Amino acid sequence: MLLRTGLLLALVAQVLVLENGLMRTPPMGWLAWERFRCNTDCDEDPKNCISERLFMEMADRMAQDGWRDLGYVYLNIDDCWMGGRDAQGRLVPDPERFPHGIAFLADYAHSLGLKLGIYADMGNLTCMGYPGTPLDKVEQDAQTFAEWRVDMLKLDGCFSTSKERAQGYPKMAAALNATGRPIAFSCSWPAYEGGLPPLVDYKLLADICNLWRNYDDIQDSWTDVLTILDWFVKYQDILQPVAGPGHWNDPDMLLIGNFGLSFEQARAQMALWTVLAAPLFMSTDLRTISPQNMDILQNPLMIKISQDPLGIQGRRILRDKDHIEVFKRPLSEGTSALVFFSRRKDMPFHYHTSLAQLNYTSSGTYEAQNVFSGDIISGLRDETNFTVIINPSGVVMWYLYPIKKLDLPERRSQE
Ligand code: GLA
Repeated sequence: MLLRTGLLLALVAQVLVLENGLMRTPPMGWLAWERFRCNTDCDEDPKNCISERLFMEMADRMAQDGWRDLGYVYLNIDDCWMGGRDAQGRLVPDPERFPHGIAFLADYAHSLGLKLGIYADMGNLTCMGYPGTPLDKVEQDAQTFAEWRVDMLKLDGCFSTSKERAQGYPKMAAALNATGRPIAFSCSWPAYEGGLPPLVDYKLLADICNLWRNYDDIQDSWTDVLTILDWFVKYQDILQPVAGPGHWNDPDMLLIGNFGLSFEQARAQMALWTVLAAPLFMSTDLRTISPQNMDILQNPLMIKISQDPLGIQGRRILRDKDHIEVFKRPLSEGTSALVFFSRRKDMPFHYHTSLAQLNYTSSGTYEAQNVFSGDIISGLRDETNFTVIINPSGVVMWYLYPIKKLDLPERRSQE
């Protein structure tokens, strides 16, 4: 009897687990929403409306301007692409804005070495009022997305009840599994339940979703970055342990390249999101982005840190009376990333500290590389005092690695 119950439980668990092997490191890509919203007026604004033209032009930029080769491979459609359902009940895109259909866009993305993401909503309507995916449409829509050769689905939660979401998200995970196509699954579910246990079961989410939105939507302003960051820090004891390879907390898109952040703030969002092992989804116009913002988003050392194979989410380890905060993310092979973040509004601040004060306890020597300037700081021991100069609402970010005693082969006598 016990054995039979065990088997049954194992079977149930198997059905519920999303087995796509995807996103072993935080996903990177581009998502339309924050920058392009629900602009559907292609007569007035043909270059920027939600249409196949917009996605093809972004795909071209991603392939040609170095994004894809650095890992930004997901090209993701958000809300407002739908035109309705056909006679068989299948979702169809708006025929004027997506005249060649979604499969065509997926093929176009694939031909450039990119992946295509799409958006649906676990409810009667999407947040902007387009056709949703109620419970009885979950399987059909998963099948349609797979037939379109889509690689990722963001499933939003507007116009649904808690009870429907509790059924719908696991049902969609199972339906995506059943298509046989590896489709990464982004769940907005926790954001609709307040983001915290007991209403949110992070163990279950980690089993059925590759990433999930925990909290409010980001908007194009520094205040929004801070509000989201503060929430993630306040609940880091809950959130930090649930992230890992294949399943990530998502504090929402990067604003870099848009209108709301200063240069320092753009660097700060990039550094903080990276140290939190967040998905790196840009939402900006890649056709017109400035070289300065490109440098922030395309920093190779930053991306190496983001994509560290251990996939450990970082934490805020210290908050100083001078309004300086320090974040740390442990990385593979004894390396780590530190972000010194200033909440000050006056002038560059000279912050004096040592690795010992930041909980480093090895007796060895470290070297650090400043992620933005590339400068190397060598000979750091735990007790070495050092100073970092942090600009108002800016960061200094270090990549730290232990200097190993060189393991030289024994010298053989020449005689
Ligand atoms: C919700 C989501 C956003 C975006 C919009 C689209 O607000 O959280 O990320 O997808 O819906 O309507």
